[in-house]
Amino acid sequence: MAFRDIREYLAALENKGLMRRVTRAVDHTWEVACLAKWMYQALPMEKRFGLYFENVKGSTMPVVTGVFGAAVENVAVALECEVDDINKTLVAGLRGRIKPRIVKNAVCQEVVLTGKDADLGLLPTPTWTPGKDKGPYLTAIVVTRDHDSGVQNVAVYRTMVQDANSVVVNLSPGRQGTRNVQTWFDKGKKAPIAWVIATEPVIHLATVANLPYGQDEIELAGSLKGEAIDLVPCKTIDLAVPANSEIIIEGEITAGEWADEGPFGEFAGYMGPVEKRQVGHITAITHRTNPICHGYSSQMPPSESTTIQSIMNAGVILHTLRDQLGEMSVQDVFIDQNFGGALAHAIIAMTPLFPGHGKQVGRIVADATPVKRVTVVDVDVDIRDSFHVDWALNARFSPQRDTVIIGDVFMTLGMDPSVRDANGTVSQGSKIVLDATSKFDAGTSSLPPKILMEKALAVWKECGLPDFDIPKRARLRIDKS
Ligand SMILES: Cc1cc2nc3c(=O)[nH]c(=O)nc-3n(C[C@H](O)[C@H](O)[C@H](O)COP(=O)(O)O)c2cc1C
Repeated sequence: MAFRDIREYLAALENKGLMRRVTRAVDHTWEVACLAKWMYQALPMEKRFGLYFENVKGSTMPVVTGVFGAAVENVAVALECEVDDINKTLVAGLRGRIKPRIVKNAVCQEVVLTGKDADLGLLPTPTWTPGKDKGPYLTAIVVTRDHDSGVQNVAVYRTMVQDANSVVVNLSPGRQGTRNVQTWFDKGKKAPIAWVIATEPVIHLATVANLPYGQDEIELAGSLKGEAIDLVPCKTIDLAVPANSEIIIEGEITAGEWADEGPFGEFAGYMGPVEKRQVGHITAITHRTNPICHGYSSQMPPSESTTIQSIMNAGVILHTLRDQLGEMSVQDVFIDQNFGGALAHAIIAMTPLFPGHGKQVGRIVADATPVKRVTVVDVDVDIRDSFHVDWALNARFSPQRDTVIIGDVFMTLGMDPSVRDANGTVSQGSKIVLDATSKFDAGTSSLPPKILMEKALAVWKECGLPDFDIPKRARLRIDKS
């Protein structure tokens, strides 16, 4: 049965060893983030787990981080599928969106704080790059709405806590939330905005899927859950938020009210520059009784942020190529987990149907998404095995013939550290497509025939040599030998 809230999801993670509780008292101004940093910097993906800080100094609220993207297994638990079926589940979810349902009562409004009581200081908001960030940051789901169409958008936009009742929201140019608030300003009105902290896991995942403007990610969340997501109208603003959330912050943005945002540790591994961004005024904080606070671990890759963004957007790319562009020759898409997320490396498995087909598909992906590097391989390569992909990049790839450089790319994500000059000014970026599919028949492989390899496996066991799991790479190779 689908998880109704984050609590049920956390219990499932804990059961599987994918989340651990920390009982020692921790300081949210530095320890929460620094411990999470050790998780991602020191442990390989298969050993990582989400962190549940039960005892946060100066607060009655626990803080969880890393729970959605400690490892690919966490995402599989959220989607209630096997790791190998994640892309299949995402594509099915993208095909069958389910509209949300509006409810009158919600646990996220068990406690309602308005006016001076709506004090951001009540939340144990972590500082994510202690010693370098300007201060604590909400890394929550931001809800906005198009004034004219009424369609809502959810996305994570980091939000700097300025004081007890105001924030500075990183509504970057080009983002859908930025576009939505502008539709209210155009009518001479204040724009409503809400932050959702700790909600149903499918909502956290759907939020970071890069869907076109006008498509509400909550409908994708409903489809992934298999039933409509319950939304409840906010208490002080004209938005509806996920009913089964732990904490909701309601607020408003006035046109032309700007403040310095940052510095803040960016997902690409460097401190981002200070920029002018919109100020938000808090109108209410509502929450469940004894709420759990969540913040995403991001900043230096790999991180929770890069892991979930890679996984979700690989599904979106696969859906776009196959279902919307009719590229049925594409079998699978993976986005690397070492850098991950935007600006990352996408790897595509396909069966080219004509000369140049691999380059063509790679170019479409590079042009239509924020990924910076696209490698295209044949379907006999395990795209999740960097060893196998690298092999194809030697055995089937000739750089001069098989590379496409796409120049003069306006990086909507101006935080790409590789295109900043010495003064921090962002210049045009570029992208690369590497077509590592076979261009001709290079002959048979240099492994013994499959029949001998299988016999040898039995002999291996007779010899008492140590057991092993056959990697997918070896299976794919032996099947063809
Ligand atoms: C922890 C975290 C922080 C993020 N911060 C930002 C941000 O400050 N600005 C931004 O534009 N995208 C940010 N993103 C990425 C967006 O949430 C994501 O790309 C989303 O799909 C954008 O939605 P939109 O296309 O509806 O604007 C962040 C993602 C995560 C997981």
